[in-house]
Amino acid sequence: MASQSALINVMQKASIAASRGLLRDFGEVENLQVSRKGPADFVSRADINAERTIRRELAKARPDWGFQMEEGGVIEGADKSAPVWVIDPLDGTTNFLHGIPHFAISIAVMETDSQGRRSITAGTVFDPVKNEFFFAERGQGAFLNGRRLRVSGRRHMADALFGTGIPFLGHGSDDDHATFLKQLGNVMAVSSGVRRNGAAALDLAWIAAGRIDGFWEKGLSLWDIAAGLLLVREAGGFVSDFASRDKALESGEVVAANPAIHGELMKILRR
Ligand code: IPD
Ligand code: CA
Repeated sequence: MASQSALINVMQKASIAASRGLLRDFGEVENLQVSRKGPADFVSRADINAERTIRRELAKARPDWGFQMEEGGVIEGADKSAPVWVIDPLDGTTNFLHGIPHFAISIAVMETDSQGRRSITAGTVFDPVKNEFFFAERGQGAFLNGRRLRVSGRRHMADALFGTGIPFLGHGSDDDHATFLKQLGNVMAVSSGVRRNGAAALDLAWIAAGRIDGFWEKGLSLWDIAAGLLLVREAGGFVSDFASRDKALESGEVVAANPAIHGELMKILRR
């Protein structure tokens, strides 16, 4: 078991505080399915409340830092060099709305160097239903509930299981939808299978944990992937955009996998 740093403790405390409300609201969603208005407004309120709780907890611990949040947008830190919290209070919103118990709270720390380059230096992904807390700090490895993580050792596409995100109505252009279908056809024909679990932060955390061997998705936002990309890297995985560049964070295009599979997955996606 690894001991957690003070910073990870702060992130965990904020995640747990927000998860209490989320779990309570998740229990209500089932009852709301039958109401005429539907649960969508309720879920968006749950999302906003979770973000407020996280923000309050983090600001208490690091008053000078900035924020970049899915719901609340950008809040500048005390100065330009201050680290920024990148927050997705509820990744897997559609699952939550449908009563599917697979969602997470994702928090990352983003720092900017003197050349203006941004990088993620700490990240946590908390799945409150399974009580799984994934965390990583740059150069310190990735962990799940204190146990060190390592990406899978599977080397062959035929044994590999992939995660992905399927574009949907209002998410991605017609061209993106067509490209995705081609990519899916290519990967499913040569692999052990493809899953669409519905929470990108957890897809990435699950690569770090060796549960799935690779993942691809386009059109993701910074808060979906900031913590997850660090988890994959710190567990020994590779991350790139669709053109093999180190630009996943900036472009929202992610190809992530264990090192043995990443190159092959890139080739297959491009066919
Ligand atoms: C979504 C999830 C989903 C991914 C979407 C994201 P949200 O985030 O991560 O898996 O396919 O692209 O927008 O809306 O549930 O926070
Ligand atoms: Ca998200």
